[in-house]
Amino acid sequence: MTNWNEIDAKVKQWLREAGDNIRKSFTETLDIQTKSNPNDLVTNMDKATEQFFIEKIKQNYPDHSILGEEGFGDKLESLDGVVWIIDPIDGTMNFIYQQRHFAISIGIFENGIGRLGYIYDVAHDELYFAEKGKGAFLNGKPLKKLAPVKVEEAIIALNSTWLVQNRRMDPKPLISLAQTVRGTRSYGTAALEFAYVAAGILDGYITMRLSPWDFAAGKILVEETGGIVTNLKGEPLNLLENNTIFVAKPGLHTEIMERFLQNI
Ligand code: IPD
Ligand code: CA
Ligand code: CA
Repeated sequence: MTNWNEIDAKVKQWLREAGDNIRKSFTETLDIQTKSNPNDLVTNMDKATEQFFIEKIKQNYPDHSILGEEGFGDKLESLDGVVWIIDPIDGTMNFIYQQRHFAISIGIFENGIGRLGYIYDVAHDELYFAEKGKGAFLNGKPLKKLAPVKVEEAIIALNSTWLVQNRRMDPKPLISLAQTVRGTRSYGTAALEFAYVAAGILDGYITMRLSPWDFAAGKILVEETGGIVTNLKGEPLNLLENNTIFVAKPGLHTEIMERFLQNI
């Protein structure tokens, strides 16, 4: 039987250690490289942080599988057993240029069901944590169940890439949504955008392409506060592939689906 309390205690200890190492790096020179394109950045700290977690997990739980953004984990083909999905630094560009608005994101799944989710805002020392069926917490304080909001009063996180002409979609429905809501925000870190929805300080979040490590922990966290997490068609997310993403408070999710996303 999996001892989830023990795993939780260990992850929280590892997050503290990893956070200390990242904060120390603020005064050091980063080694910055590019990945798929000139704006897709990775640093020595992204790699070192992923390796740190993988070493700890393999030492303590050799039969668990790990999917990590930087590729130091396993080649994951199924969600059988216990699977850790890790983004060592979500919001790398913010980490490099702003030293804030980035997070360590870890989602732990058992046969595809989210059990534990962690989003650690390192710069602010804020840990968002959720355990399936037991609630979501910010630094140990319970987060409230999400209350309904009308679209005209909603603050939605949107990635501006999708509001201008792009090769994936017709931007008009999102432009219309952006004109209707009370406000839009863009933080450059999917993990924290999910966490802010869970905390009720954002009402929703829409983006066109996230990888499993960007949303794994966030999905567990938002669902534990009663929020809805789907793709842009309203379907469940696939944890083994890239997905479009639509996260929102319950009534708002339905309203936006019906009024704005029918023809997307
Ligand atoms: C990125 C951030 C960003 C999102 C990108 C992600 P990274 O993650 O979450 O907000 O728009 O799609 O790739 O590369 O900083 O871990
Ligand atoms: Ca990411
Ligand atoms: Ca990352």
